[in-house]
Amino acid sequence: MTRRLALVALLALTACPRLDPMQRQQKYKAYQESRFTADGLAMMHPPPGTVPYGPPLEPAVATGRGPDGKPLAVMPVKIDAALLARGRLRFDTNCAICHGVLGDGESQVALNMSLRRPPSLHLYRDRPDGYIFQVISQGFGLMPSYAHLTVQDRWAVVAYVRALQLSQHATVEQVPQEARQRLEKEGR
Ligand code: HEC
Repeated sequence: MTRRLALVALLALTACPRLDPMQRQQKYKAYQESRFTADGLAMMHPPPGTVPYGPPLEPAVATGRGPDGKPLAVMPVKIDAALLARGRLRFDTNCAICHGVLGDGESQVALNMSLRRPPSLHLYRDRPDGYIFQVISQGFGLMPSYAHLTVQDRWAVVAYVRALQLSQHATVEQVPQEARQRLEKEGR
């Protein structure tokens, strides 16, 4: 039986001598020329009248502003564990290099950005959620815009920034009971 299996494996190997990963298939890259399109560009415009797929975003969700034009005090997206996990991932990937993994502004980049150090995000605890969303979406001063993150991901980052802020300014009363006992046992 094992010998037969080995034979099958050997045949399979000789039948496809080289695995050709999909990266190496023929394809167009953005901004390349194309012989197939009328204007000779690989990137095509959507046909006229195309509408985005999916329900339109509410203006407050898309902009972080209320009807009065002011930044929303409380984010308009439901916060749950999945959103926070997403926010952490996005924060660690996009923001931590400058603002530090704890959001305290301690990072290697910050040490070397002599013109304007990325500030500690704990200084922005009293800013409305919508304001943080706008800074991410539009950038601020020397900080570039992170509008390439989806709207949902930007709100996820806002939620995670709030969690970081709380983590550094929480009182013992806010620590869950079982974790509190552990803290007390460790004498901290
Ligand atoms: C390349 C480094 C860099 C990255 C990455 C970065 N920032 Fe910043 N951020 C800065 C700098 C520098 C400032 C201060 C800009 C100024 O005052 O000109 C700043 C300012 C801020 C402020 C304060 C704005 C104010 O009102 O003063 C917030 C909030 C903020 N960043 C959040 C974020 C978040 C959230 C992310 C990730 C999506 C992020 N930043 C990514 C460099 C960065």
